[in-house]
Amino acid sequence: MHDSARAVTDAERAALAAADGPPALRFPYDATALVDEPLRTERLVLRPLEASHAADVFEYQRLPEVIRYLPWPERDREQAYEHTAKRAAGRVLAADGDYVVFAIMLAGEPSAGDERAGVDSVGRVIGDVMVRVSNTQHAQLEIGWVLHPDFQGRGYAREGAGALVDFTFSTLSPHRIQAFLDVRNGASAALCERLGMRREAIILEEEYNDGEWTDTAIYGILRREWAAARGQGRVRP
Ligand SMILES: CC(C)(COP(=O)(O)OP(=O)(O)OC[C@H]1O[C@@H](n2cnc3c(N)ncnc32)[C@H](O)[C@@H]1OP(=O)(O)O)[C@@H](O)C(=O)NCCC(=O)NCCS
Repeated sequence: MHDSARAVTDAERAALAAADGPPALRFPYDATALVDEPLRTERLVLRPLEASHAADVFEYQRLPEVIRYLPWPERDREQAYEHTAKRAAGRVLAADGDYVVFAIMLAGEPSAGDERAGVDSVGRVIGDVMVRVSNTQHAQLEIGWVLHPDFQGRGYAREGAGALVDFTFSTLSPHRIQAFLDVRNGASAALCERLGMRREAIILEEEYNDGEWTDTAIYGILRREWAAARGQGRVRP
């Protein structure tokens, strides 16, 4: 996708953008129905995050190597459970800043949460992916991800995030999806590339984290690029 994107001249791209038409987000969107009818991939189930997932989430949220490039402070168990409950409250996408977090569930893995007895049949939450509204007016959405290190290196993030990208474009119809990451986050950058996203910008010293100024990379993919990559040709909302 990168090579073909670079081969397009500015004039050609302007014509393609014009042909895409104006922003056409399918909002408001309520993800509550996905609790009972979750997204499914070959190996994973993506279900809107629930407060009852907190024990599994804590298993990765408490690890320094996981939060190193995330805007998450170190949290004790109580703080982490509160944080998960807050993230789980996001269900409706309608306005800038709204978000839905999806638990990445792996069947057959025992869950960390005793209180989740009976939920084991759907497996353990090994990570999560998120979609957030960057800009309603211009139909720009953001995605993000995190995976427990025990489950990294097996393609689960690619599978889960890929399903989220497909769901987001096909159901919500944004013009563009973007991701923001610490420029040093090589694993996340590689995931962006695997998803067909392009590095579009680096913002120098955008944030001050853990005692240092950090640079942010922005990756993006346009709706028509996603559609072309899927061999569907142009997809109009
Ligand atoms: C970013 C993050 C989700 C990427 O996870 P990941 O495990 O590297 O990504 P994937 O699940 O797509 O796995 C890809 C790797 O699995 C390998 N792999 C093994 N089996 C595979 C399979 N069946 N299918 C696909 N890939 C497979 C790939 O070759 C690749 O390995 P490589 O990196 O050595 O080339 C993870 O590093 C993370 O959670 N980091 C901490 C949180 C964070 O920083 N989040 C992002 C903030 S912007």
